[in-house]
Amino acid sequence: MMALLEVQGLTKHFDLSGDILGRLLHGEKILKAVDHVSFAINEGETVGLVGESGCGKSTTARLITRLIAATAGQVYFQGREILSLPARNVREIRRHIQMVFQDPFASLNPRMKVLDIVGRPLTLYQGLKGVKKTDGVVELLELVGLGSDCLYRYPHEFSGGQRQRIGIARALAPRPKLLIADEPVSSLDVSVQAQVLNLFRELKQKLKLTMLFISHDLNVVEYLADTVVVMYAGQIMEVAPVEQIFKLPLHPYTQGLIASNPTPESFIEKPPPTLGGEVLLPLNPPPGCRLEPRCPLRVERCKTIEPLLEEKRPRHRAACHEV
Ligand SMILES: Nc1ncnc2c1ncn2[C@@H]1O[C@H](COP(=O)(O)OP(=O)(O)OP(=O)(O)O)[C@@H](O)[C@H]1O
Ligand SMILES: [Mg+2]
Repeated sequence: MMALLEVQGLTKHFDLSGDILGRLLHGEKILKAVDHVSFAINEGETVGLVGESGCGKSTTARLITRLIAATAGQVYFQGREILSLPARNVREIRRHIQMVFQDPFASLNPRMKVLDIVGRPLTLYQGLKGVKKTDGVVELLELVGLGSDCLYRYPHEFSGGQRQRIGIARALAPRPKLLIADEPVSSLDVSVQAQVLNLFRELKQKLKLTMLFISHDLNVVEYLADTVVVMYAGQIMEVAPVEQIFKLPLHPYTQGLIASNPTPESFIEKPPPTLGGEVLLPLNPPPGCRLEPRCPLRVERCKTIEPLLEEKRPRHRAACHEV
C-alpha cells in the first residue's frame, strides 16, 4: 500500500551564528532542529508524534506544510514530492493538508464571525456563497458539536474548548486528506482536553481521517494514535504501533518517557531506567547518539557512532546500539 504521506530524510538547520562578526567570534552555531526524520502515514491512520519540548515536533509540521523551507529531505503526498513544487502549487497542497494549532485564540481572526472563519475555505475551494455557504458552515459546526447559534458570533465570545472546535471545523472545511494537529489540547483546561480529544476520536472514525497528531503528552497520544513516532533532539528514536510502544518500549528514551508519565494505565512490570540530565539542544551536535549524555544504557561507541533507526522487531524500529 502506498502511504498517503511519506517523509524522507527531512532536515531543518537553523543557523544561530548571527552576523559575520558573531560567526568569527563564536564560531558557527547550527541548530539541527529536525535531522533526517523519516516516517510514513497510511490512509486512515493516525500517527502520534511525541517528545519533550524543543525536540522538533512543530518544526516537522511546519516543514511538511511548507510554512518554512527544508534544509534537506523529501515529503511525498499521494506519491508526489511536494517540497520541490513551485510556490504557486502550495495552495493546492494546503487544501489537502490542513492544520489545527495549539492556541485557538491566536489562530482565529478576532474580527471575523464564525460564519466567515469556517465559511472562507468553503468559498475559496468549493465556490460556495450565500445560503449554500451558511448551510455548509452549519453542517461543519454540527460535526464538531456546535450549533447554528454560533454563526454570527466572534471568537472572543467562546470558551477555549469551543474555539478549538471552531478551529477544527475550519480545518475540516476544505475536506483535507490529512489533518495535522499540533498540540491541539495543551492550552485547554484538563476537563475540556478530554472532550476535545473525544471529538478527534469521533471524527477519526466518522470521517476516516488521516492524522498527524502532535503532543508532548504520551497519554494523549495513547488515546488517539495507531502508530507512535518518538522524537528526541531533532531525531526519531523509536517508531511502533501504539500498543507496542506502551507494552514493549525498546528505546531507553521511550522507556524514560513512559516511566515519567503519571498514569496507572501505563503500568509496566519492570520499572524502566529513568533519564537523568537535561534535554539536549541539538546545537552543533556531537557525532554519536544524542541521548548518550542522559542514557542509562550508554556504552563507549554511543559517543562516536550515531545509531540508525533500524527494524528491531516486526513493524517496530528503534535507533539504539544496545537494544
Ligand atoms: N525560527 C527558528 N529559529 C531558530 N530556532 C528555531 C526556530 N524555530 C524553532 N527553533 C528551535 O528548534 C527547536 C525545535 O523547535 P520546535 O518548535 O519544533 O519544538 P517542539 O518539539 O514543537 O517543542 P514544543 O513541545 O515546545 O512545542 C527548538 O530548539 C527551537 O528553539
Ligand atoms: Mg511545538
